[in-house]
Amino acid sequence: MEISRKATITDKYLRRVLFYENARTGFRAFLQAAFNGRSGKVLLPAYIGWSPKEGSGVFDPVAELGMDYVFYRMTEGLHIDMEDAAKCFMANDIIVAVVIHYFGYVDPAYGDFVAAAHDAGAVVLEDEAHSMLSDIIGGICGRAGEACIYSLHKLLPMDNGGVLVLNSDGGRLPAEVQSEAQDDGAYWDYDLLAIARRRRENAVVLSQMLQKLAGEVDLLWPVMKDGIVPQTLPVLIRNVSRDRLYKVMNLHGYGIVSLYHTLVEQIKTEEFPASHELSHKIMNLPVHQDVSREELNGLVDCLAAGIANLKS
Ligand SMILES: Cc1ncc(COP(=O)(O)O)c(C=O)c1O
Repeated sequence: MEISRKATITDKYLRRVLFYENARTGFRAFLQAAFNGRSGKVLLPAYIGWSPKEGSGVFDPVAELGMDYVFYRMTEGLHIDMEDAAKCFMANDIIVAVVIHYFGYVDPAYGDFVAAAHDAGAVVLEDEAHSMLSDIIGGICGRAGEACIYSLHKLLPMDNGGVLVLNSDGGRLPAEVQSEAQDDGAYWDYDLLAIARRRRENAVVLSQMLQKLAGEVDLLWPVMKDGIVPQTLPVLIRNVSRDRLYKVMNLHGYGIVSLYHTLVEQIKTEEFPASHELSHKIMNLPVHQDVSREELNGLVDCLAAGIANLKS
C-alpha cells in the first residue's frame, strides 16, 4: 500500500464552478445542457415570485427556453408536499427537478425529494440563490443534487454575479456547459465564515426580540437548524395587511422584502391556494452582515408601532 505526498486525483471531490452574470443565467445554461433538445419537463416548486423590476429569477429561464414544466405543491408552511412531488414524478417525464432552499433554509424532505428525482431518472438542480452559505459554510445542502446555482449579489455586497456548480460530473450532462462571465474572484475578498456567523447571530437575536410580537408576527420556521445560514428571516404577518406594513417599514428606512408578494401567473390561485395564502402573509426581515443589534431593536419597535397604527 502506498500513500502519495499530496493529493493528485483530479476528479475526486470535484465541484466544477462556472460563472455568469447572475444565478438565472447559470440556471438557463444548465437547463439547455441538461435538455439538449430532448423533450421532457422541468419540475418546479409552486412558490416562485415575480416582480416588475426583476421578472422571475427562476421561471424566466424556463419560459425563455420554451420548456415544458410542471409545479409540485408546497404547503402553507413552505415545505415540499412530497406526496404531490411523487405524483408529479410518476405522471411526467421529468428531466430536471428543481429544489429551492428558500431564504437559506433546507426543507425536511430535501433527501426524499432528491431520491425520488433520481429514481425517476431526473437530474436535480438545487437553487441556492439564497443558500450559498448554507452550502459552502453550513455544509447542509448543495451536494445531493447534480448541480446548484448561487447568486453572489444576494449575500455579498456585489452588484451581480451568478455561479453554477456541477457536482462531480454534473449528472453527465448531454451537452457542454461553459462559463459566460469572467471570474474576478471578488467573493474571496470576504470572510464567508464570519458573514455566516453574523447572519445566524442576527437571526437568533431578531427571533428572540420578535417573541413580544407573537401572534402578530410569527416566525415561518421557528427552528434554525445547525448549518443554516439565513439570507433573510421569514415571518408571517397575522392580523394586519402585510402590504401596508411593508410600506410603513420601508418608509422608515427598514429594508424589508416580501418573497414573494406576487407569484408568477402560471401558479394559479385555484390550483395552489396554500402558496397564495403564504404569499399574502410573508415578510422577509433583514439579518445580513451589516445589521447591528441596535438596528434590529429599532426594526422590532417599528414593526410593533406599525401594527398598532394599522389596527387603530
Ligand atoms: C429562489 C431564487 N432563485 C434564483 C433567483 C435569481 O437570482 P439572480 O437575480 O442572481 O438571477 C432568485 C431571485 O431573483 C431567487 O429568489
